Order: sequence, then C-alpha cells, then structure tokens
Amino acid sequence: MEKLGLNEIRSRFLKFYESKDHYVGKSASLIPRNDKSILIINSGMAPLKAYFAGTETPPKKRMCTCQKCIRTGDIDNVGHTARHGTFFEMLGNFSFGDYFKKESLTWGIEFLTEHLGFTMDKLWATVYLDDEEAIGIWKSLGMNPDHIVRLGKEDNFWEIGLGPCGPDSEIFYDRGEEFGCGKPDCKPGCDCDRFLEIWNHVFTQFSKEEDGSYSDLSHPNIDTGMGLERMACVMQGTDSIFDVDTIKYILDGVVEKSGVAYHDGAEPTDVSIRIITDHLRAMTFMIADGIMPSNEGRGYVLRRLLRRAARHGKILGIKDTFLVELSNRVIEVSGEAYPELVEKKDYIQK
Ligand code: SER
Repeated sequence: MEKLGLNEIRSRFLKFYESKDHYVGKSASLIPRNDKSILIINSGMAPLKAYFAGTETPPKKRMCTCQKCIRTGDIDNVGHTARHGTFFEMLGNFSFGDYFKKESLTWGIEFLTEHLGFTMDKLWATVYLDDEEAIGIWKSLGMNPDHIVRLGKEDNFWEIGLGPCGPDSEIFYDRGEEFGCGKPDCKPGCDCDRFLEIWNHVFTQFSKEEDGSYSDLSHPNIDTGMGLERMACVMQGTDSIFDVDTIKYILDGVVEKSGVAYHDGAEPTDVSIRIITDHLRAMTFMIADGIMPSNEGRGYVLRRLLRRAARHGKILGIKDTFLVELSNRVIEVSGEAYPELVEKKDYIQK
C-alpha cells in the first residue's frame, strides 16, 4: 500500500465522495448546537442529527465531512496505549433519505480498493445479527463469505446519546496472523490485535427516545465513520497513532522541548510525552472553537486536559511554560484543513 500522509487521506476521501455527488461540508464546531445529550461533538454524525431526523434541511441529501471529535471516556488510558487519544478526526459520508446500504457499502469498497490500495483478501465485515441484505451486498462485492461475521447489538448497533441510530456493518482490516492470538476461530470481535476496525457503516433507521424506546425515522439514512488517525496507522504501517506523520510532528516537539528521548512506549516518560501530545491537539482545537477553561461542563474537560498536560510537562522536567509554544505545531500540521486554527492563533495562545 502507498504510504499516505494523514492530510492526504483526508483529502482523497472528500474528493472521492465529491465525485459521487456529495456536498463536502466543513467540520462543525466541537460545541454541540441544540443538543443537550452530549457535552462535546464525539462523532461525524453528531452535528448532523437534525438532518437525519428530518427536522432541518441539509445543504444536499448526500454529504461528506471530516469532523473534529473529542471523546474523554477513556482518558485514563491515553498515553498508556498505542491507540487511545481524546482528540480525533472522523471521515464520513452521509445520506439523508437518499441512498442506502447498497451504495454505501459499494462505494466504501471502491474507495478502499481503488483509491487507498486495499485488497479484498485483507478485508472482513461484521453485520448485525440477521441483516441478510447487508450480507448479500457484501458477497456481491466479492467479500469472502468466510470473512463476514454476524455480531449482536453491543458490536453492530450504533447509538450515542439520543436521536438517530441503527444497525451497522463494520469493515475490518486483517493485519496478519503475526498480530493474532493464534486461536483457530480468531476473527473480528476477538480481543486480540489482529483485526482492526477501520470503517463503520450505520444504517440509521431509528430514533432513540428519552424513555429508552426506539421509533422509526421518517426515512432511512446512511452515516459512516472512519477514524482518520487509525486509517493513517494502517496506511503508514504503524502500530501507534503517535507514529502517524502529523501527530509524530507534535510529539517530536515535546521531545525537543523536554530533552527527554522517546522510546515508542517502553519507558514511563513515554506516557507523559504521549499525554502531552494528545492533549495539545485536543486543547488547541477546543479553544479555537471558543471553549474556555472553567469548573463545569466542557470548560472543565478543557481545564482537566490543560492541567494534565502541564503536570506531565513537570514530570518530564520542563521548567518554563511550553504548551503555548507547542500549540504552534498543532496549528502547522492541521491549519490547512482547519483554517480556524490559523485565524484564531493569537486567541488560542493568549
Ligand atoms: N456514527 C458512527 C461512528 O461514529 C458512524 O459514523 O462510528
């Protein structure tokens, strides 16, 4: 596979869906609009819920975005593992009552094989229990029937907060036996590191109500999500998001500033280096969107990230302030895709 930079993968994705007649939307702010069920935008579909529900009219019935997201549920793992992060970007194509399963899965495979260089023998798919339609489509696309796995609600039903949700089908990349547990029935869903989920296609048909029940949406939709950092790991042949080109550039800044060497995760100081790298990305984007440190809500999340990053700077022995200086690296690598970082640079750093 061609070794593609993170920024290049993003741009290929958006261009591909533009060629399929999608409106290329800008990432929405990290601050949710008219949605009290979440504190911070945490997926590509979150800012688009009203389009799925039909209560607002989208710019076009087909849309694609690269959405900035933050998830802090796993914050205690950040730095300790190769793949946890609080900030990430999510690529997605969306249909608001336009195309459905067939087109979504077909274009997904076209993009992966013809534009990123994946081969079908390395791809697997999981489907929701009795979704025979999805299974039929996967087979017609040349997916090896042995590579199609049925899983239950926990794995193959997407819902977050209230509102639009539905069964999904996830595409997995087989990294090879050498990453596996060796069990004869090892497949997607196994706890080991062999199969990596790279793209979730959600068939958004239901709405989750406040009382926990599900109602039918007025029309079926498509919501897909591909974690950009994870895809960059695959394309760059690396195990860790911290080795992805754009993120590594920020990490190198932390190493330079602290004078502490990075050993790919083997040393306790590596944890601090990775925490600072991750949190720098999150806080730079959050402040650009107008979140201020405070004692509650989103502001508290930001305050916590700032304090953790500062504390780990001390652990590394950095004496002076350093987050402002290092935020330059976040702005440099992401400023083209997110011009608000460049426009608000002085504000962010102040
Ligand atoms: N909402 C789904 C996800 O975030 C697909 O976009 O995985």
